[in-house]
Amino acid sequence: MEKIGLSNGLSVSQVALGAMNFGTSVSKSEAFKVLDAYLDFGGNFIDTSNNYAHWQGTGDESETLLGEWFRSGGKRKDVVLATKVGFDRHGEGAGLKKEQIEYWIDQSLKKLRTDHVDLYYAHTDDVNTPIEETLEAFDSLVKKGKVLKIGASNFDTWRIAESNMIAKERGWTPYTVVQQKFTYLYPKFGVLPKYTFNESANRERLRFLETKDIPLVAYACLCKGGYDNLSRMPSEYELGKRYEAIKDMAADKGLSVSAMVLCWLINLRKLKDYPVIIPLFSARANHLIENLRATEIELSTEELEILNSIE
Ligand SMILES: NC(=O)c1ccc[n+]([C@@H]2O[C@H](COP(=O)([O-])OP(=O)(O)OC[C@H]3O[C@@H](n4cnc5c(N)ncnc54)[C@H](OP(=O)(O)O)[C@@H]3O)[C@@H](O)[C@H]2O)c1
Repeated sequence: MEKIGLSNGLSVSQVALGAMNFGTSVSKSEAFKVLDAYLDFGGNFIDTSNNYAHWQGTGDESETLLGEWFRSGGKRKDVVLATKVGFDRHGEGAGLKKEQIEYWIDQSLKKLRTDHVDLYYAHTDDVNTPIEETLEAFDSLVKKGKVLKIGASNFDTWRIAESNMIAKERGWTPYTVVQQKFTYLYPKFGVLPKYTFNESANRERLRFLETKDIPLVAYACLCKGGYDNLSRMPSEYELGKRYEAIKDMAADKGLSVSAMVLCWLINLRKLKDYPVIIPLFSARANHLIENLRATEIELSTEELEILNSIE
């Protein structure tokens, strides 16, 4: 699998692997199998958080499992490791105050059994804490070598712009990766997602990222497996002609619809007004290789335009 040199100097594989359910709904032995197979295929970009997956456990499981996998296989050096801070986990952890950031990075490093993370995200915005306090805290982690780069997830575009302007003025580390929900299907007009932070990236967001040379890490891009099993499709998405179009192209290319969506996302950066997009998905062993085949198929700009033209 090809590696992409990001504008912040990190070199990541074309697709990222989400570890959200590892250690909870995905068992340790299956998670190890998926992680090994992803690396064998050339993947290197692994995503977790300090609170995964607290809704089905304590919130320590995913990072702890990754730490065990690093220890048992010596693979830490082969991975660009991303984790996050700022979301609630059983009534603790929500927010981006200095003391929270300093506390949770040490918890994450301990669980992950590593001395640094390559990418540390603010998991969601905290409008009650001054931007300066958050950025200065992140910057001090970079200076200490605990974190290489920082990213913003689930932020409004204007808040990212404002934060990076302040970072520039103060000489602090800016947000150089954005993680947001994004997929091929459009959300239904007027239907808001269950959680307000959880909005899909729109065209304005994509143009902003392209202009600033900030890559988008696109989460929930497989719609919980809904592309190949419509009974799992979240109700917020419009199916219609757009679904038929991606399904038809998947059949032409010999890919599952899920893999076709990954392929579309990877290739979009060939078009004007699109940033580098790294799809971030999770999968069990039964779907992993089928999904990774998306990286072996090139789409022409004409094919991308056809898919994009469907309303
Ligand atoms: N920043 C944020 O706020 C945020 C929010 C959510 C997620 N994330 C990150 O994004 C990652 C992925 O998110 P996600 O798991 O919510 O969404 P997703 O990748 O859109 O959906 C994953 C589900 O799709 C199914 N699937 C995968 N490949 C398939 C295929 N080829 N055919 C049919 N079904 C397939 C799998 O179901 P089975 O498990 O049943 O196989 C899997 O659980 C997470 O692990 C996490 O790292 C970030």
